[in-house]
Amino acid sequence: MEIIIQPTPEAATAIAARLVARLIRKKPAAVLGLATGGTMEPLYRELVAQKLDWSRLTTFNLDEYVGIAPEHSQSYHRFMREKLLQHVNVAAANVNIPDGLAQDVPAACENYERKISAAGGIDLQLLGIGTHGHIGFNEPTSSLASRTRIKTLTPQTRRDNARYFGGEEQVPHHVITLGIGTILESRHCLLLAFGKQKARAIAAAVEGPITAMCPASVLQLHPRVTVFLDEAAAAELKLTDYYRWVYAQKPDWQRI
Ligand code: GLP
Repeated sequence: MEIIIQPTPEAATAIAARLVARLIRKKPAAVLGLATGGTMEPLYRELVAQKLDWSRLTTFNLDEYVGIAPEHSQSYHRFMREKLLQHVNVAAANVNIPDGLAQDVPAACENYERKISAAGGIDLQLLGIGTHGHIGFNEPTSSLASRTRIKTLTPQTRRDNARYFGGEEQVPHHVITLGIGTILESRHCLLLAFGKQKARAIAAAVEGPITAMCPASVLQLHPRVTVFLDEAAAAELKLTDYYRWVYAQKPDWQRI
């Protein structure tokens, strides 16, 4: 795992955006795994500003709330459209987001997995992290081998996301999320976390034991993970001096 600590979220986001842009330029038909949440918004703004060619890219989103329509102000369909997709030249047919209104949820989830495989797998997966360590909507105690499926949100996540819905009671209980096993099959994971409210989850994910109680800790098993943090999110890590030294000493050919 590579840990990149920057003074501010803006500085960390700029480096993450360079990494995504580099892939898009190098592999114009790449498959991107996209995430939602406040952490991703500045990253998408940077990517839009770079005016990259998205015409041959395929995208798969991590998750969606069950029971809310794509037009709902808090649906992840809407988030993606407004924050990224309507500003780039991606082909609508290549955009995939779980269907929160699917009549047959298990069949829709299986189909989503099949589409990812048919597209050749995810080249680069963007991830945020929940305050208790979820990735996508894989809540604590999720199977570390899970595939795309329905999950029930924990009270903690519903409280965390209440700010977007204007109240906890408005937050749906159920979601569809890419499984942890599915995430692990992506070729490169970029995890972004900013702010002190993420510090504990980051310490558990990066330096704690691999445990379903912190689903992001399973990324320790992935061969290629880059973690982008600001100082506040890095505050509870033990080996920060080491991570900084490694990043400062990167040979030119590894620089982002
Ligand atoms: C949300 C999403 C996650 C996201 C996380 C952090 O609920 N399902 O994919 O990474 O929680 O969100 P934020 O970036 O708003 O803190």
